[in-house]
Amino acid sequence: MSLLNILRYPDPRLHKTAQLVTVFDARLKQLVADMAETMYDAPGVGLAATQVDVHRQVIVIDVSETRDELRVFINPEIVWASEEKRLYDEGCLSVPGIYDGVERPARVRARALDVEGKPFEVEADGLLAVCIQHEMDHLKGKVFVEYLSPLKRNRIKTKLLKEERELARSREKVSATR
Ligand code: NI
Repeated sequence: MSLLNILRYPDPRLHKTAQLVTVFDARLKQLVADMAETMYDAPGVGLAATQVDVHRQVIVIDVSETRDELRVFINPEIVWASEEKRLYDEGCLSVPGIYDGVERPARVRARALDVEGKPFEVEADGLLAVCIQHEMDHLKGKVFVEYLSPLKRNRIKTKLLKEERELARSREKVSATR
């Protein structure tokens, strides 16, 4: 297993649309294992393949407190969403350090395939419902900050680009002293 590099907003590759998975082979299992390891290491509650620059419809989620209930969703679809909405403070491994409220349906029913290609359905509320919808957005090339006002989004963009420049500069310094 290996840790994968997580793309950071505003990387344009976060806006690519993921393709359907059609082959359920060892390579897919390896991707799922690497994504799970990357999510647990970060640590985060969910990760979409888009975030590790793999543009296939694969999501891993674990919202348990014990961090031992890995859920894998391949080619996920929302088949039902409640009319009731809920505002939840969301964060994202691709938008480090930023949390803001996003309103989404409070409950959803999702249909997906497991890593063997077997279909299943899950009815979710609370954090799991938020997480499924947030990760499915990633597969469509959408990052949660796109629900915020343009003003907020630009502030976040500026902050993250500045952090990235500082990070690159400190890396240069380290390599210069070697
Ligand atoms: Ni995210």
